[in-house]
Amino acid sequence: MGIELKHLLDVDTLSKEDIFFILDTAESFKEITSRDIKKVPTLRGKTVINLFFESSTRTRTSFEIAGKRLSADTINISATSSSVTKGETLLDTLRNLEAMNPDVIVLRHPASGAAHFLAKHAACAVINAGDGQHAHPTQALLDLMTIRERRKGGPAGLKLTIAGDITRSRVARSNIKLLNKVGIDVSVCAPASMIPAGIETMKVRVFHNMKDALSGADIVMMLRIQKERAGKSLFPTLREYSRYFSLNKETIKYAKKDVIVMHPGPMNRGVEISSQIADGELSVILPQVANGLALRMALLYLLAGGAKQ
Ligand code: CP
Repeated sequence: MGIELKHLLDVDTLSKEDIFFILDTAESFKEITSRDIKKVPTLRGKTVINLFFESSTRTRTSFEIAGKRLSADTINISATSSSVTKGETLLDTLRNLEAMNPDVIVLRHPASGAAHFLAKHAACAVINAGDGQHAHPTQALLDLMTIRERRKGGPAGLKLTIAGDITRSRVARSNIKLLNKVGIDVSVCAPASMIPAGIETMKVRVFHNMKDALSGADIVMMLRIQKERAGKSLFPTLREYSRYFSLNKETIKYAKKDVIVMHPGPMNRGVEISSQIADGELSVILPQVANGLALRMALLYLLAGGAKQ
């Protein structure tokens, strides 16, 4: 069994079988990351370009380490160090990078749809590392990988609540689509100003208070407020937001006792999540990051056509 994947732009085109195949591949790469010598020749001779037009700690670092652990030549380009600052377009940037014959371009961009645009014009594989508020497929896949590791009975039937700035979150959009595909019952919770119109069509239940949203939840995924994506504030004060929508020692009591606490990062401690919960025993926030590395190794392997060692 295998998978035909030219690009990874969002999770829409993935079947349930594709999803589990990617996760199984990632599981097999996880062992490499725990070895003393964490490098295999799988992608020797391949070239991966990380083209990041937006800030990133986790995604960019994990793609870079993933490429290097698989022996690919891995190059990082940021907006500030590229000729985009001199007026070069995304298409011209692509044409010039492709003149050097890369195998994979990993793109993060503030514009929704940027990765689809790049893929339409690219000869090499394109991985969407987050485009505007549209999609973040590798985050959703690593989140599902983390859930699957911790709930051995499988994801189907689990109840998951995503709480935070849903409107401006690409993580929420990709997760809702992916988690629905594997049978997870997804709810969202936020003030009405942070819930996009028509979200019910994505098969989610909508709540505006943590008590109802977390009632019986197996998993809670907290999201930060995406202040960089809109000029106007979507709530009166941070203090008020935190009072009603934070995950803390009081609100977590509404969920199941063994609830899994997730956050894609970066966290705003004391706003959407308290430090006690973020650093507590129910938190899988750092295991999410560790799984992100294995997941991105798997995707580079599958898209760059490496020979597994
Ligand atoms: N979760 C996530 O995308 O984090 P970064 O912005 O640090 O990559």
